[in-house]
Amino acid sequence: MKKPLFIFCFICSSLFLFAQSSGDAALSLIPQPVSIVQTKGSLVLPHQLSIYTDNNAEVNRIANSLSLQLASNFYKVKVVPDKKPLAKAIHLYLVSDKSIPADGYRLKISATGVSLSANSPSGIFYGVQTLLQLFPKEIVNKDGHTSVKQWSLPLVSIEDHPRFGWRGLMLDVTRHFFTVAQVKDYIDQMVKYKFNMLHLHLTDDQGWRIEIKSLPKLTEVGAWRVERTGTFGTFPKPQPGEKPTYGGFYTHEDIKELVKYAADRFVNILPEIDVPGHSLAALASYPDLSCTPGEYYVSPGDRFMVWPGGGQHFYGLIDNTLCPANEKVYEFLDKVFTEVAQLFPFQYIHMGGDETARNFWEKDEQIKALMKKENLKNLDEVQSYFVKRVEKIINSKGKKMIGWDEILQGGLAPNAAVMSWRGMSGGIEAAKSGHEVVMSPTDFVYIDYMQGDASIEPPVYSTLRLKKTYSFEPLPEGVNEKLIRGGQANLWTEQVYNMRHAQYMTWPRALAVAEVLWSPKEKRNWNGFVPRVEKQFERMDAAQVKYAPSLYDPIITVSKKDSATIIVTMDTEVEGLTIHYSFDNSFPDNFYQAYKAPLTVPNESAALKLVTYKGNKQMGRQMVITMAELKKRAGIK
Ligand code: ACM
Repeated sequence: MKKPLFIFCFICSSLFLFAQSSGDAALSLIPQPVSIVQTKGSLVLPHQLSIYTDNNAEVNRIANSLSLQLASNFYKVKVVPDKKPLAKAIHLYLVSDKSIPADGYRLKISATGVSLSANSPSGIFYGVQTLLQLFPKEIVNKDGHTSVKQWSLPLVSIEDHPRFGWRGLMLDVTRHFFTVAQVKDYIDQMVKYKFNMLHLHLTDDQGWRIEIKSLPKLTEVGAWRVERTGTFGTFPKPQPGEKPTYGGFYTHEDIKELVKYAADRFVNILPEIDVPGHSLAALASYPDLSCTPGEYYVSPGDRFMVWPGGGQHFYGLIDNTLCPANEKVYEFLDKVFTEVAQLFPFQYIHMGGDETARNFWEKDEQIKALMKKENLKNLDEVQSYFVKRVEKIINSKGKKMIGWDEILQGGLAPNAAVMSWRGMSGGIEAAKSGHEVVMSPTDFVYIDYMQGDASIEPPVYSTLRLKKTYSFEPLPEGVNEKLIRGGQANLWTEQVYNMRHAQYMTWPRALAVAEVLWSPKEKRNWNGFVPRVEKQFERMDAAQVKYAPSLYDPIITVSKKDSATIIVTMDTEVEGLTIHYSFDNSFPDNFYQAYKAPLTVPNESAALKLVTYKGNKQMGRQMVITMAELKKRAGIK
């Protein structure tokens, strides 16, 4: 009786080992490395695992952090500062090798061990991120408890370096405040995909989020607003007697902690102080800084800016700008930028400069006097006068200035860099006149936009699907490529109330941005990217990071054939999905009719319901588009 059981167990365990060692033939790395050569077989790491280093302090720090990630209920991991690694260990070491480009690394996993070399600790750090993605997904379990007994790695030889040096995400901490712990967590997520820039949007109409010791009211008053929940932009303004209790700010100590946390992970933090527009929180604190005397409040998300037609033309119902004709404004900014420059080691400070409503300036006597005195022909030149003075202040603190592309209006400040958001053209114009540029155009990298159909996504005024983000090309033809520092995706948080939703909006679109900014252009391939995203979803599930499954939901186009007939055309972003639908109010599944050609909506139907499947597996979410919505989209009254 015993023998057959023994043989059975032997077969089971061999099958198990085979399954483990054959591993995942297609490595699911994001961003895709410059070159990968994979050979058959795997390296099974011993339970007493050592990470050897050549005792460089920064590499030791990276090794210590790696050891914490690899330790588990089955694994004891120690860091050994010794140049001669034993077999089946991990070896991280610095080299001096001109053939490895900046921030690059070489990673070799062979039957004898893991060897990771780079010219700089940053290269080692990026190599470690790649290495971590080669481990089974259970490695990301935060508590280190796993059912995976053995860490096994595929045998590979990887050479890698980034395409761009500026690989950023912007987090708006003004519309909703995120704590130091939450920002650290966001950094932890972004570094997995080799982002190296966190742009913090620190001031806006809805909150001033950084302590300025010489201007205490900025955080006593400006960091707090009345709380509103629902659809931002529709809220009532503060009512008489209502207490501003919602908000928060970072103290100097908080900022130092964040800067260090980011720097330890090779992330720079770019601080943004958004002026002269978007300044209600500053004005609520110091109303004298406005051209328009009055009482100001920190906006809870009421509608005080108007965009007739939704385009680039807008005006303010309240003057939310700092007054360019008021010398006190420059004294104020000198104080602000003195402290900001001391707190953030990064070479650039962002001064915003976007969406400045000038309808109050138009009629203002001080502005008219300034125009006369400085010979400024129009309001673009008034804005440019302001921006140039801000640049002087920022430069005087030993920093360079960057701003949104509106800073080009009326003439760009002499040393300024431009962050191009209203498309690429501002960036192209700036680069052609010799200025540095970061590309972050709305149509490719505005990750506050919905990522699928409005019937299922939390509502925002525009849509940006994953595939479009993946097609972002930051380097336009005909410009000096050295001036295009890179790109970034921007997460504005008007409609993002908490970190779970920030994650949902960020992932997977930031995976696409990570690959665009790191990997060679010629490696980009949408159909190859999707299965790798799916593998990252598994890792995010294991790490309990939220992401949007919108790539599985259909793309819906509604039109009309005649004044009463609605036609629905559908497509999918991902290959291999079937769309099933109903008009009879029931929820479709894979037994329902599959979409093949444009549908004529039965007039008497109440709603179109949809879902996508891959074979028998539901992939998309149940979607419901009411008849009223279909009519609206078709333009039928
Ligand atoms: C911006 O999105 N207003 C820069």
